[in-house]
Amino acid sequence: MKRLPIGILGSGKGSNCRAILERIRGGDLAAEARVVISDVLDAPILDIAREFSVANAYLPPGQFRTRLEPEVEIELAKMLRQAGVELVVLAGFMRVLHAPMLKAFPRRIINIHPALLPKFPGLEAWKQALVANEKLTGCTVHYVDDKIDHGEIIARREVPILAGDTPESLHARIQIAERELYPAVIAEFCEKYQAVGY
Ligand code: GRF
Repeated sequence: MKRLPIGILGSGKGSNCRAILERIRGGDLAAEARVVISDVLDAPILDIAREFSVANAYLPPGQFRTRLEPEVEIELAKMLRQAGVELVVLAGFMRVLHAPMLKAFPRRIINIHPALLPKFPGLEAWKQALVANEKLTGCTVHYVDDKIDHGEIIARREVPILAGDTPESLHARIQIAERELYPAVIAEFCEKYQAVGY
């Protein structure tokens, strides 16, 4: 079976990365994780990669807070290309990507966001939904462009906001949905890859 080579980028705890690697290991996802890369040296997502024996790397991001230094972003694209990656999966990667990555992987970079985009882009989207008194929120997988949580929407999953929800309880419920939605979307990319290649 032809497996879609993916690279996963993340800055944090890596629960989405774990869900994806578990599905691959369980044979439910025809992908192959070639590399996990983080801009945070001690990010748990790198421990998860090691636990699953996936190649992994820390990439020092440079002097900026919300983006990679251009030379670093060029290096990132090179690392992913050398690893043979066809789909770049952002899983809690806290930096906005720009031309070096977007040109190297056109419509080949996806992200998951904890709200029903286009509502509530940006940080702590679950809190934004609570403050706005929404009854429904969820998560969204979208193509990545150079704006925050902005590119074309691929799929969304709704999550109800319950009376008495705290930011923590709501975030936890959204993350359960994320861990179902993201592998399901990647599975669709795998099917396309098997059918027509890239
Ligand atoms: C997720 O909630 C995702 O929507 C957002 O960052 C978080 C990453 O969580 N982009 P994890 O590191 O996958 O646990």
